[in-house]
Amino acid sequence: MAAWTTSSNEALTISLVRPTEDKASLGEEESYEDFHPTFTYPIYGEEEKIYGYESLTIDLQFASGSLVPYLSVNYSAKLPSTSTVDDVEGTLSQFIPSDYLTDEAAFRAQVEQDGTTFKPSGQLIHSYVRLSPLAAANGKGKAAANTQQTLDSEDTNAVVYEVYHTTWDTPGFREYHRRMQLFILLYIEGGSYIDEEEDSWEFVVLYEKRKRQSTPGTSTYHFVGYSSLYPFFHFPESVRLRLSQFVILPPYQRQGHGSELYDAIYNYVLSQPTITELTVEDPAEAFEDLRDRNDLKMMLSHEVFISEAFGADTLSHGGGRVGGVGRAGRSGKGGVSKSASGKMGPPVDKLWAENWRKKLKIAGRQFQRLIEILILSKLD
Ligand code: ACO
Repeated sequence: MAAWTTSSNEALTISLVRPTEDKASLGEEESYEDFHPTFTYPIYGEEEKIYGYESLTIDLQFASGSLVPYLSVNYSAKLPSTSTVDDVEGTLSQFIPSDYLTDEAAFRAQVEQDGTTFKPSGQLIHSYVRLSPLAAANGKGKAAANTQQTLDSEDTNAVVYEVYHTTWDTPGFREYHRRMQLFILLYIEGGSYIDEEEDSWEFVVLYEKRKRQSTPGTSTYHFVGYSSLYPFFHFPESVRLRLSQFVILPPYQRQGHGSELYDAIYNYVLSQPTITELTVEDPAEAFEDLRDRNDLKMMLSHEVFISEAFGADTLSHGGGRVGGVGRAGRSGKGGVSKSASGKMGPPVDKLWAENWRKKLKIAGRQFQRLIEILILSKLD
C-alpha cells in the first residue's frame, strides 16, 4: 500500500468493554475486544482507504451494555494539513452520537457504572441458556453441552441470553438505537441508517446476561446483536412484518445466536394475531442460509405437517426430526412411492400448501423454496 495510505477496515478496531469484575471471570477464548469491521465504505468511501497518516489506529470502544462509545485516533505521523489529508475523527463522528467520549477515564467510569446500572429496556420475549465459552473449552458440563436446552440457568457454567422487543416509544431506546446502528454500516453490505421519523419500526435486541459474582441475585448485560423490523399494514387489519436489518457482532457469531434471534422473531410473529407473515428485505447469503435452516427445522419438527405432507406413516419411519424426511425416503419401500401417499405429491396439493403457509406465517416465495427443499430431500 502506498505510503501515507491506510486501509480503513484495518485501522478501525472495535471493542465491547466489560466491567472489571465481569472481565475477570472470562476465559481466553472469550475476547470481545479489538475486532474489525467488514465494511467501512459508507464512512471512509468506496476505496476504504484513509490518506495522510502513518501507523494510523482508530480505536472505537463501546461499553458492552449501554454501548456508550469512546473514540481515540492515533498515528505516528501526519502529512501537513492539506485538503487531501482525510479527517479521520470528523468523518466517523458524523455516524455516531455527538456525545461520544474521548476521555478514557470517563469511559472506564461509564463501563464500571454499566455493571451496576445498565438494564435492557423493552419487553423480554425470549431467553435461552448456553454453556459459557470458558466452560465449553474446558469440557465442563459435557452432557449439558450436548443438549443445551437441558442446561439449567442456575448451573455455574451457564450463561443466559435474553431477547427484548422494543419500539421508538420504549424509554431510552431512541438514544440506544443511535449507538448500535453503526454496526449495520460496519457489517451489512449495502446497509444504511433507517429513518427515525418513521414511527412504526420495531426492534429485537439480544443480550448476554452474566451473574454478578460480588452481588448474588444481580446480573450484568452485554449487547450481542439486534434486528430491525418494519410492519406493513394491509386492509383491513393484517400486518406483514418485514425483517429489515439483522446483525450478530463478530465475537458472538457461529455459536447459534443468530438462529436464536431469528427464532425469537418468528415466534413473536406467530404469537401476534394481527401479523400474517414474516418477510425479509434483501437477505444476504449467510442470512438466507440461517433462515432456511431454521424454517426447515421448524417444519420438520411439526408432526402434523410432516404426516400430512409425506403420509401418515412417515413419523413411524423416523420423520418429524431434522433429517427424518431423508431417512423416510431411503426406507425399504422407496421414497417416491411413499411420498405419493402425502399432500407433498408430486404434485404438491396447492390448496393444502397455501393453508399451511398461512398457518406457519411464512412468506410465499420462501415457503415455495422450503417445499422444494423438502421434496428434494425426500427424493434423495
Ligand atoms: N459452534 C460452531 N458453529 C455453530 C454453532 C456452534 N455452537 N452454532 C451454529 N453454528 C454454525 C451454524 O451451523 C452456521 O453454519 P453455516 O454458516 O456453515 O451454515 C453458522 O454457525 C451460523 O449460524 P448461527 O451461529 O446461528 O448464526 P450467527 O450467529 O453466526 O449469525 C449472521 C449469522 C446473522 C449472518 C451473522 O454472521 C452476521 O451478523 N453477519 C454480518 C451481518 C449480516 O450479514 N447480516 C445479515 C444481513 S441480511 C439482513 O439483514 C436481512
